Amino acid sequence: MTQDELKALVGQAALKYVQAGGIIGVGTGSTVNKFIDALATMKDRIQGAVSSSTASTERLKALGIPVFDANEVDDLAVYIDGADEIDNRGYMIKGGGAALTREKIVAAQSQRFVCIADESKLVGVLGRFPLPVEVIPMAARRLMRQFAAMGGIAQLRMKDGQPLVTDNGQHILDVTGLTLSEPLRFENEVNQWPGVVTVGVFAHQKASVCLLGTAQGVRTMTF
Ligand code: 5RP
Repeated sequence: MTQDELKALVGQAALKYVQAGGIIGVGTGSTVNKFIDALATMKDRIQGAVSSSTASTERLKALGIPVFDANEVDDLAVYIDGADEIDNRGYMIKGGGAALTREKIVAAQSQRFVCIADESKLVGVLGRFPLPVEVIPMAARRLMRQFAAMGGIAQLRMKDGQPLVTDNGQHILDVTGLTLSEPLRFENEVNQWPGVVTVGVFAHQKASVCLLGTAQGVRTMTF
């Protein structure tokens, strides 16, 4: 099976976590796009979604799925999103699509985080994928030095020759060279640095379940 087919497989499998009559937390990315397409087949049986990005909002609306503001909804039963890496404890790196801040917000609002990913995303220790960190632009250079002091190399994410601007009007640093064997401790520490909006380690908002697409089918990991 191709990677695209594995993404479609887990996107479809995630439908079983969608409760009839509910509002669903929806993440961002190519795997989630498969889930949104699958969700459209049962759109008459849900109230709608809370979205984690303008890209997902546009896709949901184009398929006729109502999108609610996060502030209109108290609690979500389930949040469905992809990951750039996930380990066997459910800790993740996210933000490859630059949507990490809203993803963390919607995940925090949800009772259950169902991660959907193809098997290439499963790692022993987080850190191979460059760690996305959303930052306030005026803090970017100082934060690059702070990451260098802990052995990382931080690069400003660019798009069309300009720093990429997130949905929140901020910038992204991508940090390589870190081994994240203690994700909770790392997330706590970097969250304290002035100018950090969101660090792409999802340890406090880790997955409850991961539906992993493999050549043998969907493997369900529960954490
Ligand atoms: C976006 C994310 C995505 O979940 C992550 O990048 C995985 O994307 P894809 O499903 O396209 O591999 O965190 O900010």
